[in-house]
Amino acid sequence: MASKQTAPIMNQGQGETSYAHNSSIQNAEQNKMKSLIEAVVVELCSNTGTLQPGKMVIVDLGCSTGPNALALVSIAVEAIHAHCLQFQQPSPEVSVLLNDLPENDFNTVVKSLVTLRQSNDPVVVTGITPGSFYERLFTSESVHLVCSSNSLHWLSKAPEDLKTNLIPAYDIDEHSRHERLPIVLEAYAKQYRKDFTLFLKLRAKELVSGGRMIISLLGRRSDIIATKFPFLPEIVAQILCVMVSEVHFNTFFSSMHL
Ligand SMILES: C[S@@+](CC[C@H](N)C(=O)[O-])C[C@H]1O[C@@H](n2cnc3c(N)ncnc32)[C@H](O)[C@@H]1O
Repeated sequence: MASKQTAPIMNQGQGETSYAHNSSIQNAEQNKMKSLIEAVVVELCSNTGTLQPGKMVIVDLGCSTGPNALALVSIAVEAIHAHCLQFQQPSPEVSVLLNDLPENDFNTVVKSLVTLRQSNDPVVVTGITPGSFYERLFTSESVHLVCSSNSLHWLSKAPEDLKTNLIPAYDIDEHSRHERLPIVLEAYAKQYRKDFTLFLKLRAKELVSGGRMIISLLGRRSDIIATKFPFLPEIVAQILCVMVSEVHFNTFFSSMHL
């Protein structure tokens, strides 16, 4: 029995199959966060205590590559400038930091970060923070705004219980799959609780007092029973099914929780 752990790395570059050219659905989700980000920026800019001494650090966790990498932070930067212009307030100096796993295609991202710097006046400095958002990424009490879209359904790893007991998330045998569904569901939920709690603890250390966090992630209502795969939308499940049969895997683990 062959099995494989999936790595959540998006396709690099600008080609036809790149994430940069295949992320419009995710971008639509990001656009839904626009008004929230704008509202939070107004709160942050109005609270001089939080902003002292006139600096703001904005981060995107799981930025990936392509236009979406900059979408959320761009909204925030534009909102800061619009607010400060409207109220004749001096703009804070802004530091924008983009995070993803080290294997992410940061080359394309870096080039677009330069555009963000050039198109904004006053000071906007930018940087990359490679690493897992399940680890410390920033110094204590240094971040004012954390944004993240379409990323936090990725777990730190596939559930250990399933791997040790050789229970795959997907099993080609339908009977085994149905029989193990409750175990698989509980294992993913348990891992998610553990990971998300850790994520919150880490960010709590990194955020300044009064800092804000805006997160959007995929999910489903717990009262809606999942069909073939408990944690994947049907379309992804079908694609994985074909891939699995083509490469002759009959089981796989995934680090995605839905
Ligand atoms: C579907 S993409 C979302 C990208 C972008 N935020 C968007 O909304 O289009 C998910 C991203 O999360 C990143 N990711 C997954 N697990 C991560 C982790 N533990 N730490 C940092 N980034 C992670 C992946 O590498 C990937 O680039």
